[in-house]
Amino acid sequence: MTSLSQRPANAVVGETMPHESAALHVTGHALYTDDLVLRHHGALHAHPVQAPHAHARITRLDESLAYDVPGVVRVLTQRDVPGTNDAGIKHDEPLFPDEVMYHGHAVCWVLGETLEAARRGAAAVEVDYEPLPAIVTVTDAIAQESFQGARPVMARGDVEAGLADATHVFEGEIEFAGQEHFYLETHCSLATVDENGQVFVQSSTQHPTETQEITAHVLGVPSNQVTVQCLRMGGGFGGKEMQPHGLAAVAALGATITGRPVRVRLTRQQDMTMTGKRHGFHATWRAGFDEDGCFVALDATLTSDGGWSLDLSEPVLSRALCHVDNAYWIPHIRVHGRIAKTNKTSQTAFRGFGGPQGMLVTEDIIGRVAPLLGIAPEELRRRNFYADGQATPYGQPVRHPERMVAAWDQVTETSELVRRRAEVAAYNVEHPHTKRGLAITPVKFGISFNFTAFNQAGALVHVYKDGSVLINHGGTEMGQGLHTKMLQVAATALGLPLSRVRLAPTRTDKVPNTSATAASAGADLNGGAVKDACEQIMTRLQPVRAANPDLSWEELVTLAYHQRVQLWAAGFYRTEGLSWDVKTMTGTPFKYFAYGAAVAEVEVDGFTGATTTRRVDIVHDVGDSLSPLVDLGQIEGGFVQGAGWLTLEDLRWDPDDGRLTTRAASTYKIPSFSEMPPVFNVALLERAHEDGAVYGSKAVGEPPLMLAFSVREAIRAACAAFGPDRVSVELASPATPEAVYWALDRARRS
Ligand code: MTE
Ligand code: MOS
Repeated sequence: MTSLSQRPANAVVGETMPHESAALHVTGHALYTDDLVLRHHGALHAHPVQAPHAHARITRLDESLAYDVPGVVRVLTQRDVPGTNDAGIKHDEPLFPDEVMYHGHAVCWVLGETLEAARRGAAAVEVDYEPLPAIVTVTDAIAQESFQGARPVMARGDVEAGLADATHVFEGEIEFAGQEHFYLETHCSLATVDENGQVFVQSSTQHPTETQEITAHVLGVPSNQVTVQCLRMGGGFGGKEMQPHGLAAVAALGATITGRPVRVRLTRQQDMTMTGKRHGFHATWRAGFDEDGCFVALDATLTSDGGWSLDLSEPVLSRALCHVDNAYWIPHIRVHGRIAKTNKTSQTAFRGFGGPQGMLVTEDIIGRVAPLLGIAPEELRRRNFYADGQATPYGQPVRHPERMVAAWDQVTETSELVRRRAEVAAYNVEHPHTKRGLAITPVKFGISFNFTAFNQAGALVHVYKDGSVLINHGGTEMGQGLHTKMLQVAATALGLPLSRVRLAPTRTDKVPNTSATAASAGADLNGGAVKDACEQIMTRLQPVRAANPDLSWEELVTLAYHQRVQLWAAGFYRTEGLSWDVKTMTGTPFKYFAYGAAVAEVEVDGFTGATTTRRVDIVHDVGDSLSPLVDLGQIEGGFVQGAGWLTLEDLRWDPDDGRLTTRAASTYKIPSFSEMPPVFNVALLERAHEDGAVYGSKAVGEPPLMLAFSVREAIRAACAAFGPDRVSVELASPATPEAVYWALDRARRS
């Protein structure tokens, strides 16, 4: 146990408490960026002019007619940019483009006294386009070799020899869909300029520092002239890691030009048609197994659909390659990665960050080949688990593989898997037109940013003379409960009740050079920094306490102040022991792995393919939980979001003109209460102390999403029950009722 992970007696971490804003959330009193607009007198509203082509050159842009629309104040175009006309970090995202790269691309922005004036102004802007050939599907991109960015290869052993030696070799292909974030709060930025020319942007951003940097380079000013604040987000899910920057820059540009506050808030349709999503992937593979059904070799090529610009596609692909193994030992492996360049929104981070896509490939392989090997899928999965002493394909030893087994065995027990398997089999014999399926799947997910430099964080903790405490840290709150955990960490480190500690919104002039709140590492990193700051203060208070053991906290603080003891501190944390070589795709990119296992039971209708999830049981490893109720919410929410990706959410682009056709809640179905499993049992893995992280906890934000593979595999099992024994079922993803119908129909006919 390290001092980082050690908990004092009476720790506030580990206590079950609601999210710090839960009461505000449910009463509608919680403020989001757009709620602040009403507090800004004279705010202007921005509306984009969106291109109606997937790929085109802009031959003429004439904004003059927009100024005839009453209420239009300013049209922002490329000519207005004083700095760099780029909204990305790869310099491939012109903020005001000459060339339209996807249907819905914003070519300029209109500022109006009202949103309606701005909208009408945008409609009056005249733009001429010369359409260019567009690539919409990933398969067309592959055929035309339209790729962007690095093409990494992760390899170990001798794949060809492994496949030659294998008793059974299978091959296949799969293409699966991305996912719209559908956070409840759409993107929003509100910019003002103060009397000193300091630009202040309030933004729904997971990465305030990068929003600051990009806003600064668009304005052509140093970073110290731009402050970014994030109050809270109504969901980010990765969608607000890179995508807010350009929108913040537009607001800031408008504010500097007009001197008035400028609000950029996307409507749902704008958000869906303009901002990036989870990457869909295409994969081809060959897999070899020995006579016992153990993996011998895997050779695969993964192509992600990156959309029009690189964005986070390279790190997302790295994480996909690092998770192809999931929980399984694959001695000989070679995985090629490529990023397709297509005329679509720029695909980006989404909970799991490529991990789910990498795992899907292998879980799909196992689901397809298990009947061909004549081994039950759960047995095949279990047999291939990592054992102690084995390392991942990228060379990181797998620490605590026994926790994978512990979670698996526990959920097998608690879900009564064996008894229910017999029950399901009996049900299926009796029911020719509906079938049930049961499946168990594992998750092993690496925690830390692959990009080593991001694994650092800062915090600022103030103790005021009255003993009250104000904390600031570099992480953002998007509903995941990070602020709740940070309050608990501070109270624990200071030995105070929670009520003495208050938390202020994230801003770049309090804690600079922050990393994105992402990779589930928010609590690990910022928790380490908050704890460090609190401990510095406690160390300084120590001599005062030693001389005055009976003073209350308030008296102690007052006395220390009079003795001129510094009562505030900046904390810092960096994760030790990480390394990653992008060239060779090897190293120790992760501090530890989070483990989990889920059992799902579904019922499928043989006439329609409609699916209902009847019961889900989960055992998930969060280390020693910092905040059990928050973690429970993360596990339930992540699971349901994953089930949405795999079974409901069906992004469709028109292959002819590149238009996103599923651009509203009416055509894009996300999970709601009716898709919640009626029986949903979640347990935290016990005796799971993680000695490399703050107070023994583990990250929780993303890994549970991948527990939803259990639903997909249960659907596969139900489809198989319509066919003969040992039928191998190919299932599309998302497994919508239509896709399920075709899968079960194929099974029925074989
Ligand atoms: N939970 C809620 N309620 N809302 C969110 O936007 N984002 C997820 C996850 N859980 C998200 C969420 C994603 S993508 C990540 S990376 C983590 O939270 C980020 O927060 P953390 O690092 O504090 O766990
Ligand atoms: Mo999460 S996809 O790392 O923001």
